[in-house]
Amino acid sequence: MADISKILLGRRSIRKYTADPVEDNLLNDILTMGCRASTTGNMQVYSIIVTRDNKKKQELLPLHFNQKMITEAPVVLTFCADFNRFSRWCRLRHAEPGYDNFLSFFTAAIDALLVAQTVCIAAESKGLGICYLGTTTYMAHKIIEVLDLPKGVVPVTTVTLGYPAEKPEQVDRLPLDAVVHHETYHDYTKESIDRFYMEKETRNDSRQFIAENGKETLAQVFTEVRYKKEDNEVFSKMLLEVLHDQGFM
Ligand SMILES: Cc1cc2nc3c(=O)[nH]c(=O)nc-3n(C[C@H](O)[C@H](O)[C@H](O)COP(=O)(O)O)c2cc1C
Repeated sequence: MADISKILLGRRSIRKYTADPVEDNLLNDILTMGCRASTTGNMQVYSIIVTRDNKKKQELLPLHFNQKMITEAPVVLTFCADFNRFSRWCRLRHAEPGYDNFLSFFTAAIDALLVAQTVCIAAESKGLGICYLGTTTYMAHKIIEVLDLPKGVVPVTTVTLGYPAEKPEQVDRLPLDAVVHHETYHDYTKESIDRFYMEKETRNDSRQFIAENGKETLAQVFTEVRYKKEDNEVFSKMLLEVLHDQGFM
């Protein structure tokens, strides 16, 4: 059996895949392991849409801003917050579901993310590579159409899956001290921020990233290029509309 510590410490996102298919049995095993993740009240308020069909992948591609993993990976998994199935069960059993609210969406989104991450670890333990796609929440309204998601169901993240055709360098992480607080939250000072971000800021790949984007600091690449306020506001509005249309608000 694969050593879990080695898998977790050695992992990296994989964005290039070989043409080897992921066999149905293997995928089923991975999904079965994933579905052992903790889930709120054991309700399993999530669904996983498996996309293998090339035509469907082509439809999804632009919705993921043409990130080529969508069409190159043999398997695309869309993890959805799902109160549709559970609510149907309730109604059929003379129980009135009260899940048409934001808290229930958040609960289901947590469930969906926990199952997603457990599926990822299961896949990595079997020698597969994965990459999350955050574009799902930007284009949820269109993904809902392509995947025929009914009311009560909202896609929250997508994972591409396949055998790795690359072994990229591991990227950095902040030191553990930067993210762990003992007993109470210890707010950051200028000095601690400088210390915690020093390695990230002085790496060659960061310097290159700053130069390529014509910025002065790495933080500006985030705020002015990658995750801009204007975009965040537009996509927030769109996501709130999706939550409304899908019956969560
Ligand atoms: C919610 C989420 C969304 C992500 N979205 C994308 C994405 O759209 N495209 C991409 O190439 N990588 C995406 N990633 C992968 C991250 O870029 C990657 O995990 C991070 O840079 C750290 O690299 P590592 O996973 O190799 O350690 C996403 C990761 C998460 C958790």
